[in-house]
Amino acid sequence: EKGGWDSFMDKEIHEDPAAVQRTLIGRMDDDGHINLDEVRIDEHELKSIDKIIVIGCGTASYAGMVAKYAIEHWVRIPVEIELAHEFRYRDPILTPRTLVVAISQSGETMDTLMALRHAREQGSKVLAICNTQGASIAREADAVLYTQAGPEVAVASTKAFVAQITAAYVLGLYLAQLKGAVYRDEIHSTLASLKDMPAKIQWVLDTQAAAIEQAARELADSKSFLFLGRHVGYPVAMEGALKLKEIAYTFTEGFAAGELKHGPIALVEPGEPVVFIVPPKRGRDVLHAKVISGIEEVKARGATIIAVAEENDPDVKRYADIVFWRPACPTLMSPLVDVVPLQLFAMDVAKQKGYDVDKPRNLAKSVTVE
Ligand code: F6R
Repeated sequence: EKGGWDSFMDKEIHEDPAAVQRTLIGRMDDDGHINLDEVRIDEHELKSIDKIIVIGCGTASYAGMVAKYAIEHWVRIPVEIELAHEFRYRDPILTPRTLVVAISQSGETMDTLMALRHAREQGSKVLAICNTQGASIAREADAVLYTQAGPEVAVASTKAFVAQITAAYVLGLYLAQLKGAVYRDEIHSTLASLKDMPAKIQWVLDTQAAAIEQAARELADSKSFLFLGRHVGYPVAMEGALKLKEIAYTFTEGFAAGELKHGPIALVEPGEPVVFIVPPKRGRDVLHAKVISGIEEVKARGATIIAVAEENDPDVKRYADIVFWRPACPTLMSPLVDVVPLQLFAMDVAKQKGYDVDKPRNLAKSVTVE
């Protein structure tokens, strides 16, 4: 059932391209029109939505953070992201014009389910982004957008994450289409970029695996890792840090690169591995320059720099000790490729340390208690 792979995690990371592709199938036509008849919430009600709150836990919450950047940009309505267990117990402001988007791979996470129930009791509509047909969260939501990643067996979530981001993007573009918020051309070109992503993920899997394995061998004994990113690279940094801590039991911290000088830089000492998610240089040059200056700052303190960056980025070549390359893509699409080397890296480090990557200690695949 592992289909020739030596772990489910390995198999599932290699299913990232298919997970994205399958999540797009049947949801858009060739002239850039998104069809989400499966979302049974009345179009007029969706048009009247004035706030979105995305909820989830762990990896799903990082997919939700990515969703915030994209949906606010396209739809121009406020999007909040909150951990489901925090949301539920703080009396959040919910109205019939609030759309709550609950993201869950298993569809059985009790924290997320309780938050969903609370939102519905307060009169808000809940749309679930879920990977498991007929799961509790899918059943109790007003509407479901299934991620089509296929069953995920390894405890650490991988292909479900890229599928969740893809589904959130489809939802965002659909709402943009409904609200007329983004010109048809922009929806069209964004969908075209999204369709290109499976091939770009495949490129990372095909060309970067050896470098990632080598890096894992070199760094497996490190006591801790820092992961930094900006904009959509921030949730990717959080997710990279989570993967490594859960399966390799290495202490990691992920944070927004802009926070460095507000505290975390105090942790940087010679040899400390610091992973940077570097945004594309085109388009959002400012972001790129800021991340590069963060790299310079920690490099000056002797850190070992590991970068995830766009192919041939000259600044990264200059400063990074180790680079995992990815093909060029628009900034908003970059999490779909940038997370892939971090998934492989976490798996390779865990294997180096001799751990069972599919069944990390103390963790369960679905957390059905609050
Ligand atoms: C991380 C991981 C967990 C889950 C979280 C939510 O690799 O697996 O952080 O993402 O427990 O689970 P779901 O998506 O099933 O609600």
